[in-house]
Amino acid sequence: MTWPESVVPGGGGIHEPVPSRVYAALLGDAHTFAPDRSMAADLLAAEPEARYWARANRAFLSRAVRYALDAGARQILDIGCGLPATRGSLHEIAWRVDSQTRIGYVDIDPVAVAHARYLLEEDKRAVAVVADLRDPDTVVGHPELAAVLDWTQPIAVVLGAVLHFVSNSDDPTSILARLRDSVPDGSWLVISHASAPSAMTPEQVRVAREYSERTAPLTLRSRQQVTELLGVWGEVVEPGVCGVAFWRPEPGELDGPAEVEKASRIPGWVGVAVKGADAASAADLSGLDGGGRDVG
Ligand SMILES: C[S@@+](CC[C@H](N)C(=O)[O-])C[C@H]1O[C@@H](n2cnc3c(N)ncnc32)[C@H](O)[C@@H]1O
Repeated sequence: MTWPESVVPGGGGIHEPVPSRVYAALLGDAHTFAPDRSMAADLLAAEPEARYWARANRAFLSRAVRYALDAGARQILDIGCGLPATRGSLHEIAWRVDSQTRIGYVDIDPVAVAHARYLLEEDKRAVAVVADLRDPDTVVGHPELAAVLDWTQPIAVVLGAVLHFVSNSDDPTSILARLRDSVPDGSWLVISHASAPSAMTPEQVRVAREYSERTAPLTLRSRQQVTELLGVWGEVVEPGVCGVAFWRPEPGELDGPAEVEKASRIPGWVGVAVKGADAASAADLSGLDGGGRDVG
């Protein structure tokens, strides 16, 4: 598919790499610009498994959203959605389960949002808006989201690979509490979050630093920290916070020891919480071995 000039707003912001499109380039998506592809190429040269990591993250989000849909979710709010076209967009997954599911896509990158709007073709069941997770009132109070989502009914809030762009000084706990207080009991919180790899070569350190400087600073968090963030909402569902590929893998995934070993090297933690359950039980799950390592 060719990117029509009309969906590139203003032309600004396309001359430097940005997280949404570097990630899309990692996934092999075509809808990116030269600086994004160049940064993705540098990342892949330093860490050839980065594409596999990104795909494993997408696969987790698909499984987690299907879990919420199976549990009755009929509204999804995907904050930090990136380019929704990349493999298995959440609206496609949702509409296969129930064609009336409502979707709100949010991103800080206007190009990603413009792209989502173009794809959604003014579908009344979905909307994409520019807002900043660090200022959750811009999300909760967004009139276009309110036109699609019913905030009085449960919502599956998806924060896929975005909270590591939220620094501690931005107070992620308060951000999650603000979102939690805006949705009714029974709403889900899905988080995937980058952690520090156990060891990095000097070249990997250099590229990671360049990524942080040229795209956005990263705050990598430990398994315990991700568990605490999920716990802001309530009970963390089984299997607790675990490695990206180890959260309810589908039959056929993680086939054999080599695949398990490869998956255990993915530097990230994931989990799903449900609002309204016992928040204290989240802490009890922190000792579970779900694969991956606590290296953050
Ligand atoms: C690595 S991509 C993840 C995309 C998708 N959620 C996934 O996991 O496949 C991170 C996305 O978060 C967006 N983002 C970063 N900071 C944000 C913020 N403060 N508010 C909203 N979106 C943000 C980026 O623009 C990017 O699209």
